[in-house]
Amino acid sequence: MFRYGRNPAATVYDSLGPDFFLALDDGWLNLGLWEGDGSDPEEAPIAVRALVQRIAEPLPIGGDVLDVGNGLAAQDPLIVQVARPRSLAVVNVTLSQLRHGRDRLTEAGAVAVNGDASRMPWRDGSFDGVISVEAAFHFPSRRRFLEEAFRVLRPGGVLTISDIPTLRMPRTPREGLAAVSQLRVWGLHRGTAATPDDIVTMAHAAGFTGVRAELVGDRVIGPALRAVRGRLDGAHGGSWAHARAARVMLGQVDLLWERRLIDYLLLVAKKP
Ligand SMILES: C[S@@+](CC[C@H](N)C(=O)[O-])C[C@H]1O[C@@H](n2cnc3c(N)ncnc32)[C@H](O)[C@@H]1O
Repeated sequence: MFRYGRNPAATVYDSLGPDFFLALDDGWLNLGLWEGDGSDPEEAPIAVRALVQRIAEPLPIGGDVLDVGNGLAAQDPLIVQVARPRSLAVVNVTLSQLRHGRDRLTEAGAVAVNGDASRMPWRDGSFDGVISVEAAFHFPSRRRFLEEAFRVLRPGGVLTISDIPTLRMPRTPREGLAAVSQLRVWGLHRGTAATPDDIVTMAHAAGFTGVRAELVGDRVIGPALRAVRGRLDGAHGGSWAHARAARVMLGQVDLLWERRLIDYLLLVAKKP
């Protein structure tokens, strides 16, 4: 367990470091968008890229783009390939990740800012596209992030994100334990729980129109869990304590997924 301090997410990602042993590919922290069921380890590097490609596709081509919560920056050269932006900026609360991702940020020609998604240091109307991959559940407030995304977008700008919504609250002690442990492990606050409808409503309230939301947990969470379990089963060497902790964590996420307490959301919206 961590001592979290002022920025729980930064504490978590500082401690995971640049080579998180459960990452599906080097430098990639997302769960992937899978064609298969996660049993083919060769699909993992394809799946993590397919997810970013899918989320980046709605971005306007040739505009100014902001990537919020960019992890180790592996996704940024791919975002450039898909959206061919005039400029790319990234904001990440975890300074160590920006440092570890320096070469990838250079490759992407990105300007990096160490800051908070819910208080972004850009003027109104600075961007044509805002993208955020699997990070919004970490932000201190989703509502403020969506309001900030709306503010920094120009009219006609596009927001495209993935997020992990909560479909229902725990009903049994086992579910409660799994949910609280996951909140604790990932440094999340209770307010992070929001249904897909809540998130869509927040996007509308921030001013967005044309909000399109899709649940794709079957292609993301299910296969990713199988893939990570396969890697743990096949792992040789490494720390026994790490592997044991990972199995316990995996079991808890499995429960939250199998009983449909959580899902995986893709959301696209427009600033009118
Ligand atoms: C699950 S990782 C996803 C990283 C990356 N998008 C990927 O998919 O590989 C969540 C990311 O969000 C960042 N993050 C968390 N809270 C943040 C905040 N308040 N403002 C900006 N970034 C934040 C973390 O530092 C981390 O890089």
